This record gives sequence, structure tokens and C-alpha cells, in this order.
Amino acid sequence: MERCFMEKSLGNSQLKLRSLFIRSAAYEGMQKDGLPTEALTEHHVAMAKGGVGLTTVSYGAVSPEARTFHEQMYINPQSLEKLALLAGAVHEAGGKVAMQLTHCGYFTKNIKVKRPLAPSRVLNAYGILSGIIFSREMEENDMEKVADDFANAALGIKEAGFDAVEIHMGHGYLLSQFLSPVTNKRKDAYGGSVENRSRFPLEVLSRVMEKTGPGFPVLVKLNLSDGLRKGFSLEDCKYVAKKLEDLGCTALVLSGGFTSKSPFYLMRGKVPLLGMACNGDNFAEKVTMALFGPFIVRKYKFEENFFLKQAREIRTCVTMPLVYLGGVDSKAGILEILEAGFDFIALARALIHDPDFLLKLKDGSIDRTECNRCNKCVVEMDRQGVKCVLPLEAN
Ligand SMILES: Cc1cc2nc3c(=O)[nH]c(=O)nc-3n(C[C@H](O)[C@H](O)[C@H](O)COP(=O)(O)O)c2cc1C
Repeated sequence: MERCFMEKSLGNSQLKLRSLFIRSAAYEGMQKDGLPTEALTEHHVAMAKGGVGLTTVSYGAVSPEARTFHEQMYINPQSLEKLALLAGAVHEAGGKVAMQLTHCGYFTKNIKVKRPLAPSRVLNAYGILSGIIFSREMEENDMEKVADDFANAALGIKEAGFDAVEIHMGHGYLLSQFLSPVTNKRKDAYGGSVENRSRFPLEVLSRVMEKTGPGFPVLVKLNLSDGLRKGFSLEDCKYVAKKLEDLGCTALVLSGGFTSKSPFYLMRGKVPLLGMACNGDNFAEKVTMALFGPFIVRKYKFEENFFLKQAREIRTCVTMPLVYLGGVDSKAGILEILEAGFDFIALARALIHDPDFLLKLKDGSIDRTECNRCNKCVVEMDRQGVKCVLPLEAN
């Protein structure tokens, strides 16, 4: 474990991380009136104190329409003022901090957006009960605006003192909707082959890199596969990974799944249906989830390092820094990931359960997480902010 805690540069950037661990973006739900709260700062300071090299703040919506919920934070001068304080606090704790930049596309219940943007017109099952039923196919001027929104948000984040940004191209959000043949039915230069489907996400990356300038780390989160029949595949991922490398993307975080269709593909483990039903926005949503939840939300069995087999295939086709993510559980599992040639290791739930998990692995007081993958943290994030419901064993 000692070698995991040696200083390491993030790819070819100047950014030095105190360890090769990254707190993966996991929506915190810690905001009030669209502004980050003190709890969000405390959460990420705890991650930094727990030994991660880089902690990633989640869901930096790049514009008001890029939000999944109306109350969510988006990048604007008011939120940047608070985020600058968060960045300062993480630095004081010895860590570095990134912001995940996201556009939800059609995956939204944001009542201010009647016709959300998407690569094609698709049914928004997630928003039906909020009256947001179909998306609107994006035109070139919409793409221009969204690319600019990503670039301006990234510059704002850089100027607020953050050390990096992560562009979210996975999990069924807008850029992932472009990449996936399930949601991209376009007949123009932005649909069809993987070369065409990846055109807009890659344009967004170039725009962000141009705006933030050389040396500022820009990571990308990308699906290994959507986990859907006829979705974005591992072969597609190989193509996009090579393109990202050619463009000079700083590091690639590999994940999978499509939040509106296969949300637990990216987490695995139990599906906390009761809590999800109680969290419904209205009576109809609560009842629908209670009655049909077991048919709507598919379960995936949890296995340690569940994406490793697919991620290894990407390791063989690019030399750029790769971040492994998914089911990191134990010291032995971490060594397996390092032996497979990954440069960095990201985690979410083990650190939500215990921010000191990595320090405890290092000093030998434990050798695996106590997180039992109940996934109730997903329910908590929509209540008073993400937290683990299990008691923390004293070690
Ligand atoms: C409560 C919760 C919220 C999440 N929110 C996000 C998110 O906003 N963005 C994202 O890219 N991934 C999100 N994820 C997925 C995690 O980043 C990660 O891919 C997943 O939990 C698997 O890693 P783990 O086994 O280390 O938890 C979330 C996961 C959890 C548990």
C-alpha cells in the first residue's frame, strides 16, 4: 500500500497528487437554494484528510437547463464564490479538488424545462410524471451553446481555484446520450457510426481544453458500455478512448451504465426500492415506484472490481493515464488493479461509508471496507445529503 501514497503527477499536467486515490464524483445533494452548503465543503475536506489525492465534487451543471432537478446547483458567479471557499479548504487539508461538469440532456425532472435537449427526440420516462415527456432534437446552434456552456463553466471552475475538471461523458447524461445508439438516432454528421456519435462530445472536450489553456487538467468520465442491448459498447469505448488520447485529455475515468435505464449497472448490489419510492416528488411517482419498482429498476450482482475485466481491454489500447473505478473493496483488490496497469484508483461508496478507509488500509487496521453495497446512500443523497446508514466500526 505504501506505493499508493507516494506523490504522483496527474498525467502530463503539473498537478501533483499526494496519493493515487481519487474520490469519484458521487452526487452529494448538499446545497440550498442552488448554492453549495458548508456540509459540501466539510464532506470534501474529510475526503482530503482521509488521504485521497484528488476529490471530485459532483454535478456541476453547466447551465440552468443542464440540471436534473430545478433546485440543483449550477455553475454561476454565486455558486463559484462558495466553491472557491471549498477549494481553499480542501487545499488546506492537503488535497486537490476537481469539479465534474455535466449536462443532463433529456434525463431531467427540472420543471423549468418543458422540452429538454437531446441528440434526438426520445421519451423521457424519468420525467413523465413531472410532465416533461419528450426531448427536443438539438440543432447546431444548441450544440454551439452547450459546448460554450461547458467551456465557460470549466474556466469559472479553474478561476475559482479548482485543480481540474472532469467532463461527464458517461452514465446516460447528455454527452453519453450522443455516444449511445439507443438515444442518438441522428442522420447527420453527429449520428450513426461511432465516429459521428462521438463528434459532439469530442468537440466539447476540445472547446474546454482551448478555453482553460495548456496545463490545466481535463479528465473525462466515459462508459465502458451502457449495459444496454444495442447501446454504447466496449468496441465503441476503445475508439473514443483513442480519440481522447489523441486530443490530449489528461486522464480517463472508466465507468458504465445509463442512469435513466440501468442505474445500478454502475454501482451493483442491492436496490433500495422502499427509500426510492418514499423520495418520489409526488404521490403518483411514489405509487409507481412502490408498485412497479421491481420491474423498472434492474438489479446487478455486486462483485469486487466489477469493471476490471472490461477496463483491462481499454488498458491494452491506450497509454494515457487510466483511472479504475467500480467496486474497489480491499487491499488485495487494489493491488490487482495496480498490477493490471491502471494509474489511479477512484472510489465512492467505501469513502462515503468511511472517509478514513484508505488510511486504515494503509496502517493495516482493516483490509477491506465494511460497506455492504446496500446503496441506501443513494436514497440519502436526495434527503439531507449523501451519507452511509451503517454504523462505523471503531478500528
Ligand atoms: C450516492 C451516489 C451518487 C453518485 N452520483 C454520481 C454522480 O453524480 N456522478 C457520477 O459520475 N457518478 C456518480 N455515482 C457513481 C460513482 O461515482 C461510482 O461510479 C459508483 O458508485 C461505483 O464506485 P464504488 O463501487 O467505488 O462506489 C454515484 C454513486 C453513489 C453511490
